[in-house]
Amino acid sequence: IISAVIIGLNAFALPKHSEDYVTYHGYSVIRVIPHTEDQFKLVQKLSESLKYDFDFWKPPSKLNKPVDIFSPPTMTRQLIVHLKKGSLMPVTKIRDFGKRAAEAQMEVSSYKSSDAIDPDSFDFYKYHPFADIMGYIQAVAQKYPSFVSISSIGKSLQNRDTQLLKIGYPSSTAKNALFIDAGIHAREWIAPATALYAINQWVTNSSYTDLLKAIDIYVAPSINPDGYEYSRTKDRNWRKTRSGPRQNCYGVDPNRNFAFKWMVAGSSSNPCSETYAGPSPFSEIEATNLKNFLVPHNDTIKAYLTLHSYGEDILYPWGYATGQYPPDVNDLIALGHEMYNAIKAVHGTEYTVGDSGDALYPASGASDDYSKSIGIKYVYTVELRPGDGDNDDDQWYGFDLPAKFIKPTAEETFPALMAAANRVQNGP
Ligand code: ARG
Ligand code: ZN
Repeated sequence: IISAVIIGLNAFALPKHSEDYVTYHGYSVIRVIPHTEDQFKLVQKLSESLKYDFDFWKPPSKLNKPVDIFSPPTMTRQLIVHLKKGSLMPVTKIRDFGKRAAEAQMEVSSYKSSDAIDPDSFDFYKYHPFADIMGYIQAVAQKYPSFVSISSIGKSLQNRDTQLLKIGYPSSTAKNALFIDAGIHAREWIAPATALYAINQWVTNSSYTDLLKAIDIYVAPSINPDGYEYSRTKDRNWRKTRSGPRQNCYGVDPNRNFAFKWMVAGSSSNPCSETYAGPSPFSEIEATNLKNFLVPHNDTIKAYLTLHSYGEDILYPWGYATGQYPPDVNDLIALGHEMYNAIKAVHGTEYTVGDSGDALYPASGASDDYSKSIGIKYVYTVELRPGDGDNDDDQWYGFDLPAKFIKPTAEETFPALMAAANRVQNGP
């Protein structure tokens, strides 16, 4: 088994890039922080402009919050001039995303065959192909059959089987559950990596036995597999699914595709937009698969956490608008602060706890609001590392967080997941 693992592990092989691999040579990320209404309006107008159609990595949310704009080299000069005219002070956060995208390929560790995956020697501090993420959870289920099992939530558009791990001892009475998913946005690689780390903690550390006798934990570590694979092999900046083409553009934002307040806010009807909500709610099989699992389990699932990046935020519903809160919002805030404290205690990282619509930006049709709408009590979108960073160029990463940050990110996130698990165990 050991030698098979060593032979199977092909740590330095780069994925084969086809002719159409997007190199992003010279692309940059420009940050501005609007401090006045006028400045805010200027960036907001730019973010809504169909003519320029920049990918806003971080769309305008409110005054004094950073806005990150992903800019092609042909546009950057013009963009900077435009921002400066509005008395904004653009800072280049990433100078050459192409270089970063190339480096990202080095951070992927892939197995030749999933038979070779031994959970004990799995490298949690590398990024992995979808097949290996599935291979890992299959191997975990095989190794710990008394309390771990695997099932499918359905296939992706391109026929990738999306599997879900259930961790928890069988019980004669119905158990409450925590549900965690990751990877709904393809390029947010830190999310699946964090989910795998958490699985490993729960299955290998016997101090969680009582917890796992009391509750079930579901982890779906990669729920947009087509997008994820596309982000690994073709386009490091890919966010959406891979449906289409529609008007020559591929993909729907699966986190705008859920049937609750669909297309009400922060969503686009333009198939080429990064926040395209799709032709109809649940047009995307990946969102439908998730819904089809959550709805029949809405009586036992007491907490739903969806892992994203970036921003270092703990966000609770409602996200479809500002100033809208569920009736039990104080419970959500209370657990949100427990999660905040749990994270801070590890490496000192301070997340922002807030309502999605207020703290970030209104965006409807997301999986968090949908989960809340079907009666799941504790619902959070967790935006993992990085945070804003300081103002130094080239020391800050966005979605392309280097693999060396998986460990600290996962280490500090795990206690927050545990805070949610404990709440599920203890109620209400
Ligand atoms: N970054 C996530 C997105 O844009 C945040 C979602 C927060 N939830 C919400 N319902 N707005 O999809
Ligand atoms: Zn996301």
